[in-house]
Amino acid sequence: MTENKGTIHVIDDEPIIHEVLSQLLTSEGYDVELSSSGEEALEKHSSQFFDVTLLDLLMPGLDGIEVLKGIRKVDPQAIVIIITAYASVESAISAMKMGAYDYIQKPFKHEELLIIIARALEHKSLRDENIRLKDELSRRYGFDNLIGQSQPMQKIFDLIRATAPTRSTILIQGESGTGKELVARAIHQNSERRHFPFVVVNSGSLPPDLLESHLFGHVKGAFTGAVSQKSGLFETADRGSIFFDEISSVGLETQAKLLRVMQDKEFMRLGGTKTIRVDARIIAATNADLEELIGRKAFRQDLFYRLNVIKIELPPLRERKDDLPLLVNHFIDIYSRENKKEIEGISDDVLEILEGYDWPGNVRELENLIERAIVLSKSKLITRNTLPPFLLNRRPESGDIPAAEAGEQGFKDQIQDYQKKVILNALRRAKGVQKKAARSLGLKPTTLNEMIKRLKIDVESLF
Ligand SMILES: Nc1ncnc2c1ncn2[C@@H]1O[C@H](COP(=O)(O)OP(=O)(O)OP(=O)(O)O)[C@@H](O)[C@H]1O
Ligand SMILES: [Mg+2]
Repeated sequence: MTENKGTIHVIDDEPIIHEVLSQLLTSEGYDVELSSSGEEALEKHSSQFFDVTLLDLLMPGLDGIEVLKGIRKVDPQAIVIIITAYASVESAISAMKMGAYDYIQKPFKHEELLIIIARALEHKSLRDENIRLKDELSRRYGFDNLIGQSQPMQKIFDLIRATAPTRSTILIQGESGTGKELVARAIHQNSERRHFPFVVVNSGSLPPDLLESHLFGHVKGAFTGAVSQKSGLFETADRGSIFFDEISSVGLETQAKLLRVMQDKEFMRLGGTKTIRVDARIIAATNADLEELIGRKAFRQDLFYRLNVIKIELPPLRERKDDLPLLVNHFIDIYSRENKKEIEGISDDVLEILEGYDWPGNVRELENLIERAIVLSKSKLITRNTLPPFLLNRRPESGDIPAAEAGEQGFKDQIQDYQKKVILNALRRAKGVQKKAARSLGLKPTTLNEMIKRLKIDVESLF
């Protein structure tokens, strides 16, 4: 007896085909299951698993295409080979479009059928292996939704693991799009607090007064428009975590109040007299250099010390390019599912282009780029023609700064010059539309606008 090479499900209404195929396939070492109608076949698929299914398209009763649909519904990964009469190749092709693996025309040589089956099984084992590897990768290199195999990211995972269970305040520092919010969520998820709220404070988008009433709540009549009393985000975050999305954008006065809450763990609603106790863990993120802000008296030093108990510094993507392949695959998974496309990966030359780029917008920029490529992609592989033109037209060394220029300037000036160049290029490409330029860089429009002001970029000079 030969070893079992897999189970083949034959769906055909002709008894003679059943007889011939079951003899042929059994002698080749396959297990065979026979069905005479679509109804019978679907019934079996709902409870059994088959390695390959041979499906005759022309059967009385349930139409072959309907059977294919039904099979793919219960087992989206099923490998179905269509058997078709010479006259109906067109319906075989439409079956292929619906996810059939291959088709074979009647009458066929036995040899021909065996080759198609062998190829299908090989395809299946490769695919299963791929899925297994991906699972293993995400178990080894993932932390909640955070991906990274690079040394710096592995260190970040260790830090999260070590600090999550504590009550300590955490300051997360990193450029825009490096994953600060994702880290904050991972900390919350890996602490006892995960059963309680994770509250995000988008401090940058609110004027100071409004921010304070959001944070601390207010009593009726505390200010014009306070028609009823309202609890604040701190109360919502009780026993959970409160995440300050960009702590540097909190005004000095509110900083003072924040410091008090951190020290006393209690506060009053705006206009209120009752003290409210809360137990909320504070996690703050910033993309600014807080120490520099302290120097300019734009940030309170005492608050900084309070926040900076544990610092997590997220490295920019350009310093951990060995994470690119994993991140690319991760986003391909997400966005091909979302767009219902079967995309397996990227071509080697595309990966090379991605590796040669500096990613000023970090992971967010990469994520946007992959999403765009998936939407545009017409094949199973992401190729060059789905990349934005500016990436294709870059000369590989254009990221380098000429040595003479570099030698004469300090580190910070060089970085600033470089940032200016990147932003100017993006603005030029976006024809001056800041929102568009921000998107292409993977920055929030407010962040870009802030950088344009800080770097004193003369937008008018572009045109
Ligand atoms: N290591 C990572 N693995 C997987 N996805 C990531 C990773 N880092 C960032 N991302 C994704 O990139 C995007 C940006 O991440 P996030 O919002 O956490 O960045 P951020 O540092 O808070 O940015 P900003 O300063 O602009 O607010 C998100 O969609 C996030 O899911
Ligand atoms: Mg953020």
